[in-house]
Amino acid sequence: MTRHMDIPWWRDAVVYEIYVRSFADASGDGVGDLAGIRERLPYLRDLGVDAVWLTPFYPSPMADGGYDVADYRGVDPLFGTLADFDALVADAHALGLRVLVDVVPNHSSSEHPWFQAALRGEGRDRYIFRDRPNNWQSTFSGPAWTQVDDGSWYLHLFAPEQPDFNWRNPEVREEFLDILRFWLDKGVDGFRIDVAMGLFKAEDLPDVRDQSFMSKSPVWGQPEVHDVYRDWRALLDTYPDERMAVGEVWTDTLEDLALYVRPDELHQSFNFAWLQAPWSATAFRKVIDDTVATVPFATWVLSNHDVVRHRTRYGTADPGTGMARARAALLATLALPGSAYLYQGEELGLPEVENLPPEARQDPVFKRSKGELPGRDGCRVPIPWSARGDSYGFSPEGVKPWLPQPDEFAELSVARQTGDPGSMLEFYRRALACRRELARTVPYGLEWLESSEDVLVFARGPLVCAINCGTEPAPLPPHESVLLSSGPVGGSLPPDTAVWLRRAVS
Ligand code: GLC
Repeated sequence: MTRHMDIPWWRDAVVYEIYVRSFADASGDGVGDLAGIRERLPYLRDLGVDAVWLTPFYPSPMADGGYDVADYRGVDPLFGTLADFDALVADAHALGLRVLVDVVPNHSSSEHPWFQAALRGEGRDRYIFRDRPNNWQSTFSGPAWTQVDDGSWYLHLFAPEQPDFNWRNPEVREEFLDILRFWLDKGVDGFRIDVAMGLFKAEDLPDVRDQSFMSKSPVWGQPEVHDVYRDWRALLDTYPDERMAVGEVWTDTLEDLALYVRPDELHQSFNFAWLQAPWSATAFRKVIDDTVATVPFATWVLSNHDVVRHRTRYGTADPGTGMARARAALLATLALPGSAYLYQGEELGLPEVENLPPEARQDPVFKRSKGELPGRDGCRVPIPWSARGDSYGFSPEGVKPWLPQPDEFAELSVARQTGDPGSMLEFYRRALACRRELARTVPYGLEWLESSEDVLVFARGPLVCAINCGTEPAPLPPHESVLLSSGPVGGSLPPDTAVWLRRAVS
């Protein structure tokens, strides 16, 4: 089969999100770090992903797990040094893995030198200070404004330790171009842009009637943000080897999302509609149709460090159902045109850890809502590498990880699953290997094949993917051979099961 060399690498890439604090701890302080990731790169190569996205590892007081950046050009000592970063990029590239880093442009840490200067009354225009607050609420609960000593207020759409930048100040714009250059010169292959629909707020900061997350509101998605991404795209295009950017863009509609991926803006944007869809063929079909119709280069995401893990989302009452559906959902995700973003631990079938003790929880969402909202710690529990030990191999022996791991992590550990053909991990490895063979050889578009309401069946050239979201077995579509299935398949496709088939095409 021919390989299309002119297709950019990111179009069909499988990108693996590493939540740095929870992947692997080499230093022995209970928190994941860059050296830990470096040691585990062969695992990722063998898993069969194309790239990794590292969540923030920059110097930070960790008020929001590192999404409160105090220095955009460094590495927090908790995670290592810049030399560790360089070594990690060099090793990843040597193994054929690309590296994306997170850029956090909406807000800095309150410990950032610019904000510290602003508190002293210097350069306040880099942030959003006002004499009086408006009625905006923080995404993490409570008001979006905090008062400082001289009586004025500053805006923070997230925690008070995360003051929002004033993107109408050209100095902010220049600074971020320079930050991007810094990491591009270090050889990163691209960026994941945090809260990419934020940055600009309506100029007069009007009160809002509805505080919900809406893309068309004075708070988010102002048209000026697109000029920033045009500048960023122009910068990325001056570098060799197709450096790219993917936006964390939450919008109400896929039409709004499409604005961010116009040809001179971001290369990709996360498709959260896929992750928000319930286990339903009708819901999945609608997201697929809308995505393919509106977005030139699609992405597919089932989980990340901000949402309930999909195994748990798909099977709240029964873990077996959640596991079966998670397997089936992977085959759908990997068969669709575009790239897929995986979240660490989904290849092990990790569940959301729902019963973390309140004193262990660290997410500002939990703290600021006074425990009313559980927050996101449940999807951030450190990875179990081995079946035994104080941290299941996450940290060196004798060290407790920063969040406690449940007993069931022993069974779900990498060591236990490796070599077991029925395990989630081996299933991911097979699926990723098979996709690698297929992704660039099948046509980009998809065609729906006939099926009942509860079953999704689509084809891309010779590849047919069928997913049974119903409660009854469904007939298998016509095929020459079965490439892969998420569970046992006989003459029919059982409920909560997906299959990849090869069909004859003339
Ligand atoms: C993004 C990150 C999330 C963080 C927030 C504020 O949504 O993914 O983890 O809390 O931005 O930076």
